[in-house]
Amino acid sequence: MTVKTLFSTAFAAGSILLAGSMANAQSTTLTIACGAVGVEFEQCQADVQIWEEMTGHSVEILRLPDATNERLDLYQDLLSSESPDLDVYQLDVVWAGLLAHDLVDFTPYLDANSPEFFEGLIENNTIQDRLIALPWFIDTGLLYYRTDLLEAHGRSVPETWDELTETSRFIMQQEASGLSGDSLWGFVWQGDSYEGLTCDAIEWFHSYTGTTFVEPDLSITINQPGNVQALELATSWVGSISPPETVQHKEEDSRAIFQRGDAVFMRNWPYAWNTGQQEDSPIRGRIGIAPLPSGPAGSAACLGGWQLAVSRHSDNVDLAVDLVKFLTNEESQKRRALDSGYNPSIPALYDDADLLAEFPQFEQLVEVFQGGVARPASATGRGYPLVSRIIQRNVHRALTGDASAADALQNMQTQLVRQSHWYGHQPLP
Ligand code: GLC
Repeated sequence: MTVKTLFSTAFAAGSILLAGSMANAQSTTLTIACGAVGVEFEQCQADVQIWEEMTGHSVEILRLPDATNERLDLYQDLLSSESPDLDVYQLDVVWAGLLAHDLVDFTPYLDANSPEFFEGLIENNTIQDRLIALPWFIDTGLLYYRTDLLEAHGRSVPETWDELTETSRFIMQQEASGLSGDSLWGFVWQGDSYEGLTCDAIEWFHSYTGTTFVEPDLSITINQPGNVQALELATSWVGSISPPETVQHKEEDSRAIFQRGDAVFMRNWPYAWNTGQQEDSPIRGRIGIAPLPSGPAGSAACLGGWQLAVSRHSDNVDLAVDLVKFLTNEESQKRRALDSGYNPSIPALYDDADLLAEFPQFEQLVEVFQGGVARPASATGRGYPLVSRIIQRNVHRALTGDASAADALQNMQTQLVRQSHWYGHQPLP
């Protein structure tokens, strides 16, 4: 197995430079793209190695950038140039409709031994009757909190955004004169202008108004008084309970602060549990997870997660499908969950005794995992990246004080309407 690092400047579509393949004459070498957030990359290496040992083939791993937008740019370059250089793509849950044209249909490859994945994910990945990716792991936004700090200050886990705001302020004030000093923040989250902000924003907006920017019938519902209120609240966090740099934070920035012990609360995906509980983690044994706080319309967790797909332009489609089937099978998913805390995309694993012993919170959170709020990708299809960019940019302008929450939402509405001729699906070949 070899690892390829990718810097966008060094990359020319259709010509990834392979860093010394270890393949021998008898074996085939595949290339898979894997993320590197938390321990994602190491886990991918370990999984791939088992397949290599089982089959005698080799796999090169392309290390993906952390920002999902950058991953998408790379994929679009590769697929539009029909490059055979990348065989297996790690796909965000929001890209199925967008990239379907260049991906292999798994339907003929499935059999009685194939696992039963979450139905919603199979629907998500089925475009014009083609199953273009197999679900690998599921993500949903979660609230992480410091059990020791809440206990020391006699506070309970916040159930509403207002409670989270108030508890953060209170503990920060109390701790300013105590051990944590000024470095303790209340709440860390993802405020940079990228796909992660779209996820945080859908959680705020959906919890205030039950809306998702663009609804399944393509009506545009972003500009609502409740969403203005939600965005005003989020904006008020920046520089008060959240660091001013939040407007540049992605998942790993938030996790670094929380894991250092410098925040009471964090919004993040499930992977942060496992990393926070590692032996060298300063907060090991002092973390709790809960559903995100509610607004007037309840609590909302953005549905995320990653799928594995095979390029139609691969020279080794059958072998690449075999690798994907191996990585997504029940045994591999159980191992990934036990080793690194990735949430399986197979519902039966949530009743697995070994997994429940390791992650008792699975039982409490399975409803959150199953009830994630989807970003409007299925409805808007090839228009989704544009929708998401309109949300990210305008929300970001409000967070940085460049626009009022009301103006930002008015802009989002106008721009989403103006671009709506893009929404929909491209016919498949
Ligand atoms: C996580 C989610 C993915 C989302 C991304 C945003 O990786 O699984 O769906 O788009 O975060 O940063």
